[in-house]
Amino acid sequence: MRVTNRIKRSLPLAGAALALVLAVGARGDAPDRWWSPGEGRVLPASLDYTNEHGALRTLVVGGPLKTRGHPFFEPLGANGRACVTCHQPADAMSLSARTAQERWEATGGKDPLFAAIDGSNCPILPQGEKASHSLLLERGLFRVQRPWPVRAFNGQPVTPDFTIEVVRDPNGCNSAPGYGPGAGNVSVYRRVRPVANMKYLLAVGFPFDPKQGYALPLDPDDGKPQSGNLMADNRAGNLRLQMEDASSVHLEFARALTPAQIKRIRDFELSIYTAQQSSPAAGGGLDTMGATGGPAKLRDSQPGALGSIGTPVWSEFAAWDRISAEDAAKLTPQQLAFRQSVARGARVFRDRTFLITDSAGINSRMGFGNPVRNSCVFCHNMTQMGNDVAPGQVDLGTTTQPFADPWDDLPLFRITCLNQPHPHYGKIILTYDPGFALTSGKCADVGKITLQSMRGLSARAPYFSNGLAKDLRGVVDYYERRYKIGYTEQEKQDLVNLMSVL
Ligand code: HEC
Ligand code: HEC
Repeated sequence: MRVTNRIKRSLPLAGAALALVLAVGARGDAPDRWWSPGEGRVLPASLDYTNEHGALRTLVVGGPLKTRGHPFFEPLGANGRACVTCHQPADAMSLSARTAQERWEATGGKDPLFAAIDGSNCPILPQGEKASHSLLLERGLFRVQRPWPVRAFNGQPVTPDFTIEVVRDPNGCNSAPGYGPGAGNVSVYRRVRPVANMKYLLAVGFPFDPKQGYALPLDPDDGKPQSGNLMADNRAGNLRLQMEDASSVHLEFARALTPAQIKRIRDFELSIYTAQQSSPAAGGGLDTMGATGGPAKLRDSQPGALGSIGTPVWSEFAAWDRISAEDAAKLTPQQLAFRQSVARGARVFRDRTFLITDSAGINSRMGFGNPVRNSCVFCHNMTQMGNDVAPGQVDLGTTTQPFADPWDDLPLFRITCLNQPHPHYGKIILTYDPGFALTSGKCADVGKITLQSMRGLSARAPYFSNGLAKDLRGVVDYYERRYKIGYTEQEKQDLVNLMSVL
């Protein structure tokens, strides 16, 4: 990447051509990919950054936005970070492991991104060493410290119906003095969730939480039901609670955000949309040749009404092979074939069924039975976005044995259910991240994670809350392993190609 930039500077014209040629994979586009806290740049109303599969576009409704003095972009706290440090426009308002690696190389590990508090495996480790930040550099994970015993999203103490023991603690943050269940906290490691396309995440799809069978928690600010679709463990039910948590922990901001700062951050979060915009493999923009898959569609669509799943999520992409003869003539055979693959991928996602087994939140409580035969879209059904319309969390097995990989760099916990056993795992569960159970205090919720959106995936590998899948193929391979689906090689590639243009 650096070579490309150097060439671009010395030979502007040839450099521009070269940048075009190298756009895919080389990330040679903007020397200003990285948004540093407090640099005061203007965020344009529409901004493109290349990635491995084309370009991502970020739209700011009412933009351009002057970021000078804006609380999302200014380093508010002691460690020099801003919200934008971990929610970067080039990375679909999340942060890829690759960007973390590039920051490490560019700053010798001195960027505030790597702050000891949660940008290292544990603050007790020697901070100058790369190995102390391996979870962030290799898997894009930040440390998330939760209180033990559990406190609910509103700060109320909850008496958990399970005990937690630390089986293995490779980084010290669950057993060193001041850390771990004995000291009143549990540390888990999680991916950054994108701060964009928020109206879909905040939409209330159901009058209650069907996955847990609980009533929806009411928003402390307006008394209305909450969507239940924020954060891996739903510990912050609305944007205000979320940003207060973020500013005190990630930013180490000792004071409270002012009402004016809260409003500005919230307004920004509600105005930003991001998705893949163009795909060289498909021969161009996602909103050309009859397609309407880019971020403008996300901005202009609305989440489905209460209890509905809205317009079929993947219909935009399932239509990609219905292309006029005139447009087809503009494409190479490879581009045409790619578009057909994306369209097939959308149909595989929607129509190809398999047996969904032992996934708490779907196979228990919901009344669907265990197993239930359905497709990817059963869980990923929100209009345009692919998060879940129904509030609540699902255990896909990503953080829990036997389905999660036996990693030796993550802490491992043994959960013992005190009353009812877990519906699928029994009384004893081995988990790397109890997920929603750290908010609800219920052993039936161990391993449950809030579904993320599926947009901008190409800009923000690795995937799943703990970075288990290093690329899109890894996602498909995980599902194949988890549910023994029996996808053909073609179906797997079609799904990967679909996800690469979302
Ligand atoms: C050190 C990195 C870091 C910084 C700085 C940071 N965040 Fe985050 N953000 C995260 C991580 C990690 C998550 C996911 C946490 C989880 O799921 O438990 C997240 C999640 C979120 C979410 C939830 C999105 C969703 O889909 O659930 C929002 C909203 C958010 N952050 C806003 C902010 C705001 C506002 C700020 C500044 C006050 C901020 N973040 C600063 C790392 C960061
Ligand atoms: C039983 C419900 C369910 C089904 C069926 C399902 N998913 Fe998921 N999906 C989830 C949950 C829960 C998560 C979040 C898990 C985590 O982060 O650890 C998730 C996360 C993802 C993510 C990660 C997004 C990110 O931001 O990291 C992708 C991509 C994905 N699913 C694709 C698929 C595909 C492709 C299929 C079909 C093969 C599928 N899903 C079927 C429940 C489901």
